Amino acid sequence: MTSARIVVLGGDGIGPEVTEAALHVLGVAAKRGGKSFETRDELLGGIAIDATGEAMPERTREACVAADAVLLGAVGGPKWDDPRAKTRPEAGLLGLRKAMGVFANLRPVRLHAALADASPLRRDRIEGADMVFVRELTGGLYFGTPKGRAVENGVERAFDTLVYDQNEIERVVELAFRLAAPRKKKVTSVDKANVLESSRLWREIAVKVGARHGGISLEHQLVDSCAMKLLTHAKDFDVIVTENMFGDILTDEAAALAGSLGLLPSASLGEGPRGLYEPIHGSAPDIAGKGLANPVGAILSAAMLARHSLGWTDEAAAIERGVDVAIAKGARTRDLGGTLGTREMTNAVVDAMSQAA
Ligand code: NAI
Ligand code: MG
Repeated sequence: MTSARIVVLGGDGIGPEVTEAALHVLGVAAKRGGKSFETRDELLGGIAIDATGEAMPERTREACVAADAVLLGAVGGPKWDDPRAKTRPEAGLLGLRKAMGVFANLRPVRLHAALADASPLRRDRIEGADMVFVRELTGGLYFGTPKGRAVENGVERAFDTLVYDQNEIERVVELAFRLAAPRKKKVTSVDKANVLESSRLWREIAVKVGARHGGISLEHQLVDSCAMKLLTHAKDFDVIVTENMFGDILTDEAAALAGSLGLLPSASLGEGPRGLYEPIHGSAPDIAGKGLANPVGAILSAAMLARHSLGWTDEAAAIERGVDVAIAKGARTRDLGGTLGTREMTNAVVDAMSQAA
């Protein structure tokens, strides 16, 4: 097999530190599995604005759409926060998602038993929780039109539109069902069908897609009650699929359950195997350049990359096991109350991978 092609967008702040760590771990797993990949570094975010004036230079776009997968660190930071600036780092991320056609954002939230005390929930409520959010990423309230402002009779108004067509719903729900198949075989579709027409269509399509997937159960939850059940019944969830803004809010709530932002990965997927992978945390300017960042979110993102874009199932599982074993043995960066730096934590995962094998 030819080498997989991975574009690496380190980005800003701790981004380059954590992507380097993730590629190191991926390299170890690949080598063991007799696989190979090549990387190409490109610019995105603040670092790209400084170098080219644009948050997503054309060269970056071209490289990403031609790659098998893209691994991203984080973008943004105080240096580029001037509200009067012509372009902002986040514009690069939005542009990239659009260019890559990724319409589903996957966020697994799993609580490691050894870290249950880092969760704001009681151990018995959270231990064993293992869910994946599938958030629709390119439609819904954040992108619907008309959106804007108007003045009527001297009164200022502002409006946004929550709109979906059946195809946008179908493709993201279909992805959720496929993810549920090798898991606990349960899809929770989250909407606000008691109020919103777009949610009633969402529900109809979810039922239709569900009918194609025998053996996988489908339940519907209203978004407000889902927000509550994440706290009271976290262990009942498996795959959760929802609208863009609902997903934005619920995924942050769920991330808090896991204890540290630094642990959680994400993937953004479209129709084909190509995807965009990034830890959920930001550029953490307060610890950037100090070698203190927790690399686990990025390492687990690389595992998702191996699984979803390269089909390297064994390598992905080996990385995930390595993280589990390292944490079980007490490896902790500072955000988890430990003393390890980025490099030491990365080495702990690599060591654990050989022991786990
Ligand atoms: P943040 O996630 O960068 O940091 C929040 C807190 O968590 C900080 O105290 C930070 O030190 C800590 N933290 C984050 N990741 C960590 C890690 N891997 N290891 C140890 N500690 C970690 O969020 P914040 O401070 O709101 O945003 C900082 C910048 O990042 C902003 O410019 C923001 O726009 C950007 N950002 C970018 C994202 C992306 O690229 N997808 C996502 C979120 C924020
Ligand atoms: Mg958010």
